[in-house]
Amino acid sequence: MLRSHTCGELRINHVSQEVILCGWVQRIRDKGKLIWIDLRDRYGVTQLMIEESKAPAGLIETIRSCSREYVVKAVGIVRERESKNPQMATGEIEIELKQAEVINPAKIPPFLIEDETDGGDELRMKYRYLDLRRSIVRQNLELRHKVASASRKYLDSLQFIEVETPVLIKSTPEGARDFVVPSRMNPGEFYALPQSPQTFKQLLMVSGFDRYYQIVKCFRDEDLRADRQPEFTQIDCEMSFVEQEDVLETFEGLVKELFKTIKSIDIPKVPRMSYAEAMNKYGSDKPDIRFGMEFFYLKGPSHDFVSGNGFGAFDQSESVIGICIPGGASLTRKQIDELTDFVKKPQIGAKGLVYVRYTSETELKSSIDKFYDENRLREWTRQAQAQPGDMLFILAGDIHSTRKQLSELRLEMGKQMGLRDKDTFRCLWVLDFPLLEWDEESGRFHAMHHPFTSPKPEDESLLLSNPGKVRANAYDFVINGVEVGGGSIRIHERTLQEKMFSLLGFSPEEARKQFGFLMDAFEFGAPPHGGIAFGFDRLCSLFGGAESIRDFIAFPKNNAGRDVMIDTPSNLSAEQLKELHLKVN
Ligand code: AMO
Repeated sequence: MLRSHTCGELRINHVSQEVILCGWVQRIRDKGKLIWIDLRDRYGVTQLMIEESKAPAGLIETIRSCSREYVVKAVGIVRERESKNPQMATGEIEIELKQAEVINPAKIPPFLIEDETDGGDELRMKYRYLDLRRSIVRQNLELRHKVASASRKYLDSLQFIEVETPVLIKSTPEGARDFVVPSRMNPGEFYALPQSPQTFKQLLMVSGFDRYYQIVKCFRDEDLRADRQPEFTQIDCEMSFVEQEDVLETFEGLVKELFKTIKSIDIPKVPRMSYAEAMNKYGSDKPDIRFGMEFFYLKGPSHDFVSGNGFGAFDQSESVIGICIPGGASLTRKQIDELTDFVKKPQIGAKGLVYVRYTSETELKSSIDKFYDENRLREWTRQAQAQPGDMLFILAGDIHSTRKQLSELRLEMGKQMGLRDKDTFRCLWVLDFPLLEWDEESGRFHAMHHPFTSPKPEDESLLLSNPGKVRANAYDFVINGVEVGGGSIRIHERTLQEKMFSLLGFSPEEARKQFGFLMDAFEFGAPPHGGIAFGFDRLCSLFGGAESIRDFIAFPKNNAGRDVMIDTPSNLSAEQLKELHLKVN
């Protein structure tokens, strides 16, 4: 070892010991007669000190030749500090320097390597190895490591075993596009990178592994957002001889354990909600239940409190839905205008926003007073269970879009009103997802989760007569409005799997070509099985209190899917392309 201690471990009980530290120069303060140097490594920062009058020959010159980020070896004696720094773990001591060696000089870094840095996103991504020296970013990766070890410990204790599955595979349909890899040895043929190890984990169940997990990289070529990366990590799990309840219990246990170990929080029994209820109350299959503001319906299939007053936008709409903002009557005209612009943004797409300001029992004002008198508005406040002082926001349109738009507004209001505190955690199981989802564009059904998900036995009879109504044995784990995990009980019989592929528009030949291996396996003794995969990066960012998963990935891609540090994706040489049997432009 080049060092006797790290920069984070020396305390008052080390006083008078001679120590050797190695690290990076964080800061030098040169007061002429006295020089202080902050030396940093992964474990912390230690202050070194030189008194000019006592310094051995050459030492001052060595130190003055250093600047930020030089790699230095320092030999000295631990002394108690005169002015202690309670903010620092090592703040009671400093090292009286006896000897120093520059191990490696450093260029001036392109941004400050401090918690408060002056580097913009792109610059920090380009020099990610320097960004990773910042304690804030390093701590995120330390947290990631802790989440991984705690997950392994929990799963190990329940006899799950970690098995690696291949990365060069054949496309699995999980809803996104595949990244593909051309095969040199098989001209014109391609591997796909796994969107998840779904089929392999099911095959491991057929092999009798009984309980599998893997902390595994997955690849999806989809539009990127704060919580989506093209390569991300799952805690992927599968179990045999289980029903949905067993899977929910086992993995609620995992999340509980993680909260306990990582955040020292005991989470209560996780509430459950059906997909239908989530959509009805919150317009989302991953509702943030840290706050209320549940939807109320002024017009729907069963009732209508709005039509016939000459207001076309309501009269002609399939549904009119609102949320009640507690205490929102004090919102200003300007704030309402801004919220109207918010819902009219193309990404949200509402046509307009109607408000009812319920200032007091006798003061009720709306943006559509022309059409509705006070009695009508009062009826609406009753539907909304509003109190004096509240504000109603109302949107109209087809039920699907209106729910989606109102869900965005609800989240925005939750944010503006400080109801989405990052240190409050509300977990939720969303159950009974529809098995299939109608896709207007392609004019056919898609699997809502994936094609290996089993229908609820009580709905199986609807598969042919009304497939859109069939519910699946599928579940999502949601924390604070983020989908952190999803899974299902699988189909384990060939005939049902064939029926499923046929519903999804596969011809028997196509189904056999793509998934014959899995259906064949089902004929060699497949146990009933089910599982789940957690988005590991998302879990880490939630525990870390950040919105973007990027901060919890050592070397992430930017929003355009590029790694700006190694500068990829990049071109291949004409020779490589030829070897891979790919056409040169
Ligand atoms: P699913 O597609 O729901 O299920 O993925 C599981 C979890 O992975 C996370 N996730 C992502 N995280 C970051 N970036 C992405 N691009 C991304 N896409 C998904 C989410 C999600 O809940 N094979 C099934 C699981 C199963 O059925 O067992 C699957 O992959 O948190």
